[in-house]
Amino acid sequence: MTKHCFLPAFAAFLLFTVSCEESLKFDVDLSKEGAPIQETMYGIFFEDINFAADGGLYAELVKNRSFEFPDDALQGWKAFGKVEVKNDGPFARNPHYVRLSDPMHPHKWTGLDNEGFFGIGVKEGEQYRFSVWARVPSGGSSDLRVEIVNTASMGENHFLCQQDLKVTGKDWTKYQVVLTPDATLEKAVLRIFLTGDRETVDLEHVSLFPVDTWMGHENGMRKDLAQALADLHPGIFRFPGGCIVEGTDLDTRYNWKNSVGPVENRPLNENRWEYTFPYRFYPDYYQSYGLGFYEFFLLSEEIGSEPLPILSCGLACQFQNDNPSAHVPVNELQPYIQDALDLIEFANGPVTSTWGKVRADMGHPEPFNLKYIGIGNEQWDQLYPDHLVPFVDAIRKAYPEIKIVGSSGPDSEGKQFDFLWPEMKKIGADLVDEHFYRPYEWFLSQGARYDNYDREGPKVFAGEYACHAKGKKWNHYYASLLEAAFMTGIERNADVVHMATYAPLFAHVEGWQWRPDLIWYDNLRSFRTVSWHVQQLYGQYRGKNTLTLTMDGKNVTGAEGQQGLFASAVADGDKVYVKVVNTSEEAKSIELSFGGVSVSGVSSVKLSSDKLDEDNTLDVPDNIVPVTESLGGKGTSIKVKVEPLSFRIYIFEK
Ligand code: AHR
Repeated sequence: MTKHCFLPAFAAFLLFTVSCEESLKFDVDLSKEGAPIQETMYGIFFEDINFAADGGLYAELVKNRSFEFPDDALQGWKAFGKVEVKNDGPFARNPHYVRLSDPMHPHKWTGLDNEGFFGIGVKEGEQYRFSVWARVPSGGSSDLRVEIVNTASMGENHFLCQQDLKVTGKDWTKYQVVLTPDATLEKAVLRIFLTGDRETVDLEHVSLFPVDTWMGHENGMRKDLAQALADLHPGIFRFPGGCIVEGTDLDTRYNWKNSVGPVENRPLNENRWEYTFPYRFYPDYYQSYGLGFYEFFLLSEEIGSEPLPILSCGLACQFQNDNPSAHVPVNELQPYIQDALDLIEFANGPVTSTWGKVRADMGHPEPFNLKYIGIGNEQWDQLYPDHLVPFVDAIRKAYPEIKIVGSSGPDSEGKQFDFLWPEMKKIGADLVDEHFYRPYEWFLSQGARYDNYDREGPKVFAGEYACHAKGKKWNHYYASLLEAAFMTGIERNADVVHMATYAPLFAHVEGWQWRPDLIWYDNLRSFRTVSWHVQQLYGQYRGKNTLTLTMDGKNVTGAEGQQGLFASAVADGDKVYVKVVNTSEEAKSIELSFGGVSVSGVSSVKLSSDKLDEDNTLDVPDNIVPVTESLGGKGTSIKVKVEPLSFRIYIFEK
């Protein structure tokens, strides 16, 4: 393809400016639009891993707010003076609470500090809503002081703000005050202590939220993180995982019914990511379920995504359980099947139905219009189809309109994958979930992965994927570039691939178990990785229909002889988006030819960097970000130059 030319010696200096390379020619066929690109195509995968929920997206700042952490009811708290833990509280599923009494010396204090999740992040001048359920056993009244404290302060006062709160009467009542810190601090402490005449008081469900959450919800989400989701324009929102769906054992599986209703009464669940990797062990990682299924459906609606819940199929995590007795026998699956049916009722049922009423009581009488449900996560062997069939039968019977997602196991190919795909076809799953956390070579070799998939079978949900470089398992530009390259193949095969979600989504810089991840944060700041930008660009330039794009009559898939190029094209009304990923180290001149149709160049988005091992960071969040340039030219073919190791989107108008 490259034409070598001989330059006279005197012209050699022109080498940098005069290209001797013949342009490669990409033919984009505008005469015929192909398959529609599903609105669900690019989406998000949420799992409570890496402190993604409590300590992350869920804006609650208090850890162990209900005093239910099983190893120590006061984990996350520092008690001083006379503090007792009691367990006959007002919320049946969270029975523990604390009793604060007079320390019996006028110069001593009784109270509690909460350390938050890696500290409590607060911003100067912002409002924080403190709330607590409380009562005074004697029936009298008791005075509390609530402070946000900088314990390392060199100033006269440790506190950044304080408020007094009077608790009155024997009945459990919810109290709240708003605190406004006078300084910004990443690692503050919440302090509550008895003042006044130190009358004994009982406290339960101690909570602190920023007032300014996403959409202002009281039980809300951290605004910058929810915004980072909304900005992806995600078409599909998978929740709550991941392995967390299955549980290390069935008792610790994600039980959606425990995640709805008043937050005070949602029972704590173990988080398997606390201990899954002993080399990154977090003994204080639990799920409060404060971000539960109602919040998931609401957030999906608010960011314009279709919700995709994944539920347990009665198999505990198969990585962690060889013993068949860890799983539910098929003939005892009914409660699990009922959970799935009830979830659909919770999302879509009328307010007069049992679960529709729970939804309505939580503030959303209108249905959430759920269309998809996944049963099982990374399951395998005959056990999985055996468990899936009764779910499919029951869901089809009760809700024939709901599309069901099955699984092809944990691998992108191999024994389980080859076994499960035909099984999913037999069972009639609407979509099949594929997972691939794979190295560079895999991503470079998979540009044509879906070109020969069965067009009649279930559709593909690429439900978890990310480029995991060997020996470099962290976010970096080159890995993201290969994800962009791979995604051209997803886009070209939009008739087969209906959904794709990068995974995992979130990670706290001090609390991660797994990387790379899409969005990182500490207690105050966050940043969007290069992979986030890749996802965002695909979401923004999704288009409506595929277009055929070829080089020498072949799809551009990074195949041998294609010089490390991957490409795809889509139509969006009068607009045409051509995506090109150059994974080679040389710039490429490409002539984009539109089959005799005249187009004009509008703009081009460039994602390019020579910092292959780097990504964005909390300190430099825009280290590597896309740049939009204007794109001139008009005609039936337009020449472009694609930089080495770069991702380009060219936008044309017909
Ligand atoms: O995304 C992290 C984990 O990877 C998921 O929980 C699981 O499904 C996969 O193995």
